[in-house]
Amino acid sequence: MATMIVSHRTGHTPVDTLDFVKVTEVAALAASRWMGRGERNTADGAAVEAMRDALSEMEISGRVVIGEGERDEAPMLYIGEELGRGAYEVDIAVDPVEGTNLVANGLPNSIAVMAIAERGGLLHAPDSYMQKLAVGPKAAAYVHIDAKVSDNLAAVANALERPINDVTVVILDRPRHKDLIAAVRSTGARIKLISDGDVDAAIATAVEGTGIHVAMGIGGAPEGVLAAAALKCLGGGFMGRLKPRNEDEAQRARAMGFGDLDRVLGIEDLAMGDNIVFAATGITDGDLVRGVRFFGNNARTHSIVMHSLAGTLRFIETVHRLGALPPRL
Ligand code: FBP
Repeated sequence: MATMIVSHRTGHTPVDTLDFVKVTEVAALAASRWMGRGERNTADGAAVEAMRDALSEMEISGRVVIGEGERDEAPMLYIGEELGRGAYEVDIAVDPVEGTNLVANGLPNSIAVMAIAERGGLLHAPDSYMQKLAVGPKAAAYVHIDAKVSDNLAAVANALERPINDVTVVILDRPRHKDLIAAVRSTGARIKLISDGDVDAAIATAVEGTGIHVAMGIGGAPEGVLAAAALKCLGGGFMGRLKPRNEDEAQRARAMGFGDLDRVLGIEDLAMGDNIVFAATGITDGDLVRGVRFFGNNARTHSIVMHSLAGTLRFIETVHRLGALPPRL
């Protein structure tokens, strides 16, 4: 029996957590048709539309807090858009394609992602950058975003009872990470440089068997909220700090209520809800989940879904008989 989301307001159980997997599944299916075709925006658009249609049919009264952008720049899944046809009030964070370039180039680790929580349960983060540090549950208590890289990696190695050269750190391959990469290399830890997709990497730190132990560096702030929501469900550790790229971004962050831009944001600042569901479906093969496969008139998807209250983590493989039904709820 799948876990239900309990409404604090009504006390009843209006939505099944598995319904949220269906939302990321349809987004992944839509985007996967565009794998390797060099059209990141088309892939994203297909996923956005599929995800929005699926959310619109759910028994929720949803409000997008992390989405495709502000209302004037995104026609669908914009910040503040209201979705669903039910009464259960939730906040929604979506990234229909996390790793648009990965899909466009047929590269690993692109996922369709969504988190939901009770109203006010997810931070409305500015569209800016964020410095991030993510680790799994065993290391969560022993690292800090302001500690030296060498100290953090020693702490992770200790917590995981392995030598530091058996610790693998994921970092976005960007010029801004030159010093960070050098600092990690000097410890002897292994590094996996990725071209995109730091949400997948952050989650992978908290899922045993992925071979990933730490994710660090600067990436998108909205992606930081999604990662924090997932790590809350998994008992992992996540810390972030806004890193506006320019004064304009800094002003906007201040206008959104971020008075102290240097403040360290923990999981409870980013994903403060008690009742969080996080779902992701692979678009291309990745460390966490496999990508969409088509065979005959069928497709197979691989997803992860977790629920903070229930403490559950499920991997779900679904065969979609595409000829039988349109790929929707
Ligand atoms: P998109 O899916 O929007 O292309 O974002 C992918 C991503 O790699 C994120 O995972 C990451 O947080 C961010 O972009 C990094 O931004 P940038 O490419 O500007 O360094």
